[in-house]
Amino acid sequence: MPVKFYQEANQVPLEMHKVRMVQKLALLPVEERIKRIQEAGNNTFLLQNKDVYLDMLTDSGVNAMSDLQFAATFQADDSYAGSATFLRVKQAIKEVFGTENVLPVHQGRAAENILAETFVTEGKVALMNFHFTTTKAHITRLGGSVEELICPEGLIPQSDNPFKGNIDLQRLRARIDELTPEKVAFVRVESGTNLIGGQPVSLENMLAVTDVCHEKGVISILDASLLQDNIYFMKTREARCKYMDIRDIYHLLADHFDIIYFSARKLGFAKGGIITSQDPKYTRQMMTFIPLYEGFLTYGGIDVRTMEAMAQGLYESLDMEYLSQAPEFIDYLCKELDSYGVPVILPAGGLGCHLNAGAFVPDMPHDKYPAGAVAAALYIAGGIRGMERGTLSEQREPDGTERFAELELLRLAVPRRVFTLSQIKYVADRVKWLWDNRKLIGGLQWVEEPSVLRFFFGRLKEINFWQERLAEKFRKDFGDSL
Ligand SMILES: Cc1ncc(COP(=O)(O)O)c(C=O)c1O
Repeated sequence: MPVKFYQEANQVPLEMHKVRMVQKLALLPVEERIKRIQEAGNNTFLLQNKDVYLDMLTDSGVNAMSDLQFAATFQADDSYAGSATFLRVKQAIKEVFGTENVLPVHQGRAAENILAETFVTEGKVALMNFHFTTTKAHITRLGGSVEELICPEGLIPQSDNPFKGNIDLQRLRARIDELTPEKVAFVRVESGTNLIGGQPVSLENMLAVTDVCHEKGVISILDASLLQDNIYFMKTREARCKYMDIRDIYHLLADHFDIIYFSARKLGFAKGGIITSQDPKYTRQMMTFIPLYEGFLTYGGIDVRTMEAMAQGLYESLDMEYLSQAPEFIDYLCKELDSYGVPVILPAGGLGCHLNAGAFVPDMPHDKYPAGAVAAALYIAGGIRGMERGTLSEQREPDGTERFAELELLRLAVPRRVFTLSQIKYVADRVKWLWDNRKLIGGLQWVEEPSVLRFFFGRLKEINFWQERLAEKFRKDFGDSL
C-alpha cells in the first residue's frame, strides 16, 4: 500500500529502495541538442546516450538491478550442458508461474520468432488485442497476418476505463468462427499493451479469452513482457485481485494460457527471454528451434550471469513494493501533465507516460510524422529522449502506401527503479514548455527509409527550419540555462 503523507499537499510516490550506484548524466546546451538530433536523422534511436540527459526511450533492458541481482551474478555456472544456473532459472519460473517447461531465448523477439516459426504458415491469422512491432514483423515475414481485436475504448486517448487493453470478446468469437479455427495461428494477449499506452488487460478478460480459445480449439499465448505493471493494475483496479496473492495471479494465468513468453529485459529487471508452458507438448514443438537460432537449451543465447540476475529478478517481480514504483511514477507524471492541460493517455498505464502527440500538432498529416516531430522537439527542449509510437513505427502496406497509426504517441518510458522524482518533475516542466510552444513544431520528411522496422534506423529531416525557431524560443524563455 502507498505510504500516506501527513500533509496531503506533500503526497508523492515514495521509493521503497535506495540508490547505491550512480551514473553521471550530461545536459547539453540547446544549441548542441539541435545539432545532435539533426545528426541523428531526427530519430531518437540514433542519438548517442552521452548526449541525452534523461533516457526515456524504453523500459527494456535499462531497469536498475537490485543488490541481490548483482550478488546472484557471481554464482553463475557457465557449463554448456547441465548448468546449475539454468536449474535456478527453472526454479524461479516454477515459483513465479508454476510451470515446469522452460525454453530460454536471448530476448522477447527471439521468443516471437520461435512462436512464429512453429505456428505461423502462409495465410494463417494471429488474433491479438494489439500488435507489437517485432511480433507483427515475425508473423508477416512468414506469410501470416495480424488482426487486432482491442476493445473500442483502447483507442480513445482519454477515458476512465481501467482496462483499455482488453480484447473485445464478441469479436474474438466471431473472428474465430469466420476464419475457422484451423486458419487461426494463435490468439495472443499482450498484457499490458506496448503501442497503445501501456494499457492493462483485466484478469477477467484474460481468463475469458482463454475460455474462448479452449472452446474453439485455438492456441492461447500470453505475452507477459509487461505483466509486472499489469499485475500492479490488477491489484489496484480489479476488485477480485485486490486480496489475491501476486503469485496466485501469475499461477492462474499460467494454468489458463497454453503458452507464456516474455522479455526479461522488462519482466525480471534483467535481460534475456523465456517461453514456458504447463503442457510439455508446446515446448516440445518449439525446442528444436532453440539450438538453431538461440543456443543450447540451457542458455538460449543468454549470458549465464544475466540468467542469474533474471532468476533473482523474477522473485522480485512478486514484490508489490518493487512492482508499484514505475506505475506510480508514471501516474504522477501523467497527472502533472494533465493538470497543466497537456494531452496524455489516461488513465496512466505501465511502461511510460504517453503524450498524445497528435493533439500537439492537430493539423499535421500522418505522413509528416507528428509523433516523430514531437520526439525531436522534446529532445531539443530538454535533452529528453522519448520514442515515437505512431505512423513512423508502422510498416508500409505491401503496395508501398503508408499505414497511418491509430494513435500518434510519444512514449516517455520510465525504466523501473532508475529515475528520481525531481527528474520526473523536470520532464513534466519541459513538456509543458513544449506544449505552450507547440505552434513552432513542424513536420519531418524521409532522407533514408529502410523497408523493415524503419523506426529503428531510418533518417529524417525537418521541413522548413522549425527546429532552429524552437531553439531560439528556448533561449529567449530560459536565458542561459541548459
Ligand atoms: C509487449 C512486448 N512484447 C515483446 C517485446 C520484445 O521484447 P525484446 O525487446 O526483449 O525483444 C517487447 C519489447 O519492448 C514488448 O514490449
